[in-house]
Amino acid sequence: MKRDLLTLLDLNKDEFNSILEKGKAYKNEAITGNLSQPLKGKTLGMIFSKTSTRTRLSFEVGMHQLGGYAIYNNRNDLQLDHGESIKATAKILSLYLDGILIRTYDQKEIVELAKSAEIPVINGLTDSYHPCQILSDVFTIKERFHDLSNINVVYVGDGNNICNSLFNGAALGGFSFTACTPDLYAPSNETVLNAQKIQKENFGDSFSIKLSSNPVESVKNAHVIYTDTWISMGMEEEKEKRLKDFKGFQVNKELLSHCKENYVVMHCLPAHENEEITPDVLESENSIVYTQAKNRLYVQKAILNFLLSNK
Ligand code: CP
Ligand code: NVA
Repeated sequence: MKRDLLTLLDLNKDEFNSILEKGKAYKNEAITGNLSQPLKGKTLGMIFSKTSTRTRLSFEVGMHQLGGYAIYNNRNDLQLDHGESIKATAKILSLYLDGILIRTYDQKEIVELAKSAEIPVINGLTDSYHPCQILSDVFTIKERFHDLSNINVVYVGDGNNICNSLFNGAALGGFSFTACTPDLYAPSNETVLNAQKIQKENFGDSFSIKLSSNPVESVKNAHVIYTDTWISMGMEEEKEKRLKDFKGFQVNKELLSHCKENYVVMHCLPAHENEEITPDVLESENSIVYTQAKNRLYVQKAILNFLLSNK
């Protein structure tokens, strides 16, 4: 039966870990230059309703390196929204392709697409989740610290798609996670409770998943300080209000002076400099944002291999 990756919770703990392991194998292949091609003859269709640099390129290059082919479609170029429904589009795409990557607004739309498609559907970001990003970020954290079980990841910023997927990453990856947001922008109770429940099922009481609205207190015990834009794609009209509401949540040198030694700073990028993060922090020795971006390629390849190869 075909599988989808609409949220990280489409994977169980073992599948999550096996994708991370495969990502490591692909990173090692890149060092030797001996690239395996398990997706020869396979085609990935990519639909983007929003702009993208990393997701588009890492999937496109990844597909190419795996021996397959990727086709980029700007949503507006398809007949979708021009009289053809999601359901009809899913059926037609299933006739030509081996998988679909989609970046769009509403999570419900990709759920509907996946229901009608006979091929795997991958969430390349919605307003609610960004599973491919966070799978890759857990890979980067593991690469840096080796053992996740002593690690506190603290997210400072908006309770958005990145934050929601970090909850799921903590539930499957096994690390402690705090989401520190202004109260108005806290993630939903459902997201938090569900992640806590799954983490407990997977790891007992070894780790915690918490909320906070105090950045200084939250970062004191952090190994990873993660942030993302306060104004996600599609929220541009709220910019002025949000810049005011997030005051005090900027990741800057002053906030980081409260951290222990050896912390790292992560950001999915694109960064909005001097809003959620200052340029000196982004380019500092503690920042691993470029390693994080590079690892997208290896983990995206592992996701493609997991969903599209004839295992
Ligand atoms: N981090 C991320 O998904 O970047 P893009 O929007 O450039 O794809
Ligand atoms: N939260 C951001 C992530 C971009 C990769 C957005 O949705 O725009």
